[in-house]
Amino acid sequence: MNPIQTKAKAAGVNLDRLPVHIGMIMDGNGRFAKAQGFARLWGHHKGYKTLRTALLDCSDLGIRYLTVYAFSSENWRRSDDEVAGLMQLIEKSTRDEVPTMMRNNVRLKVAGRLKELPASLQEAFQFAVETTAANTGITFTLAVNYGGRAEIVDAVRDLIKSGVPADEVDEACLSRKMYLPEVPDPDMILRTAGEMRWSNFLIYQAAYAELVVTDTTWPEFKQEDLFAGVIEYQSRLRKFGGVTG
Ligand code: IPE
Ligand code: IPE
Ligand code: MG
Repeated sequence: MNPIQTKAKAAGVNLDRLPVHIGMIMDGNGRFAKAQGFARLWGHHKGYKTLRTALLDCSDLGIRYLTVYAFSSENWRRSDDEVAGLMQLIEKSTRDEVPTMMRNNVRLKVAGRLKELPASLQEAFQFAVETTAANTGITFTLAVNYGGRAEIVDAVRDLIKSGVPADEVDEACLSRKMYLPEVPDPDMILRTAGEMRWSNFLIYQAAYAELVVTDTTWPEFKQEDLFAGVIEYQSRLRKFGGVTG
C-alpha cells in the first residue's frame, strides 16, 4: 500500500471497491475567484493547480480512468477574454505537464470537437497524447469543447456514413462510435460547487453513474474531498435496474 492508499483506508475508503472510472465536473472557479476579489481567470489558474493534485491523487489511489470537464461546447458563450484565457491555460498546461505525466505513467486522451479548437492547442494535444500513448497507468481524459449531445450527434453521423442499416443499429454499435469507445462508462461523476446537474457531460455514458456533489468549489477541492466522494459512492446501492438484497 502506498501512502495515499494508507491515508484513504484510514479515512474509510474501501480499496477493494474503488470506482474504475471517475468523471469530474470541475465547477466553481469563477465563484471562488469572485469571493476572493479576483477576476474569473485567476480562479481557472487555481483550478489547474487543483487538477494537478487531483490527477496524481487518483492515480496513486488506484483509479484507472479519470475524465475531467475542462471546457464545454456551451462555454463559448462566455466573454472573449475568458474563452481566450482558458484556451491558453489549457494549451500551456498540456505542454508543461507532459514530463509529469511521463514520470507518473499517465496516458492522456482528449474528447470533444477538437477541430474547432485553436490550431496550436490541437498541436499541443497531439504531442501530449502521442508522447503518453504507451503509458500503462491511469488514463486521463480532458473533455474540451465537449458536449454530450454533440457527441451523440457525431456518433449518429458516423453510423449513417458507415452505412449500417437502421434495424441493425443497437447500443453496442452506437457506443463504438462515441469519442473514446475504449474507455469504460464512468461509475461515478463528482461535481464541485453544489449544482446538481450534468451540464451536458457524458450524458450517454453516465446513464448508470452515481452523482456525487460537493459544496466546495473546484479550487478548494482537497484530497479529503476525493476520499469523501469515493466513500459516498461506496455507500450507494447500485442496482442497474434490477433488484438487490
Ligand atoms: C468551471 O468553473 C470551469 C469552467 C467552466 C471552464 P466556472 O467558470 O463555471 O465557475 P462558476 O460556476 O462561474 O463559479
Ligand atoms: C460545466 O460547468 C462545464 C465545465 C465544468 C467545463 P458550467 O459552469 O459551464 O455549467 P452550468 O452553466 O452551471 O450548467
Ligand atoms: Mg460554472
